Amino acid sequence: MSATLERVERLADSLRAHGVEGARVALVLGSGLGAFVERVAGSTSIPYDAIDGLPGSAVPGHAGRLVLGEVGGVRVVVQQGRVHLYEGWSAHEVTRAIRAFARCGLRAVVLTNAAGGLRRAWTPPTLMRITDHVNLQGRTPLLPGEGAAANPYDEALGRALDDAAHARRLRLEHGVYAGVLGPSYETPAEIRWLSSFGADAVGMSTVCEAQAARAAGLRVAAVSCITNLAAGIAPGPLSHEEVMEVGRQASQRFCELLEEALPRIAGLCEPVT
Ligand code: HPA
Repeated sequence: MSATLERVERLADSLRAHGVEGARVALVLGSGLGAFVERVAGSTSIPYDAIDGLPGSAVPGHAGRLVLGEVGGVRVVVQQGRVHLYEGWSAHEVTRAIRAFARCGLRAVVLTNAAGGLRRAWTPPTLMRITDHVNLQGRTPLLPGEGAAANPYDEALGRALDDAAHARRLRLEHGVYAGVLGPSYETPAEIRWLSSFGADAVGMSTVCEAQAARAAGLRVAAVSCITNLAAGIAPGPLSHEEVMEVGRQASQRFCELLEEALPRIAGLCEPVT
């Protein structure tokens, strides 16, 4: 077994010891979106540094704890805070938790993030379901011999998000997410280039997680909260504080969407008997 997979196995052992095995869907919360943990019933919360083998985050707004509990009757495990490539972690470290969730028997993951918007008409905050991505991070989380899925985002899970948005009368756009390395925001020229090949949003996470999740056998859904118009489209300079603040403004809508979607997603992931 490769060293990468041995580390995944070790983390899966620690996660099992913390009770993760009973969960069915994993959720990764992006910048400013951490308030969703308040919707998790009967929750227990474990700081990342108490979990052997789990890389921890030092970015403000990424609290770094794992929350276990139930949403709408579905047992979930929530990563409140994620680690990023730009912090110096490798693609294998960034995706270790995702692969370990798959080893613990979870079936699906919902990835969320804050992103910059490339469409002028999408006034922030706008929620966007990721239908596909472009990996511009120059890294892959895949292991030798693992073929990348053509598109890691599951269409049926995506439709469950659409249906959930419809049921709660929430606007949910669809678009392509461009994953960049960061940590700096893009230049206006970079944004013009990203727009020219069809990206709708840009951010610094998610693409490796989606690829690794798919390779590990999890079904993947993803939602961006567009917290700002991207550089050159926005009138002023961008800041992490603005991203966090607008993320919080979207929190109510975002939480409703996920609350409604999780039971639908879990229902699609039942084993066929
Ligand atoms: N660019 C990259 N990442 C981001 C942005 C952005 O404009 N907003 C939130 N995350």
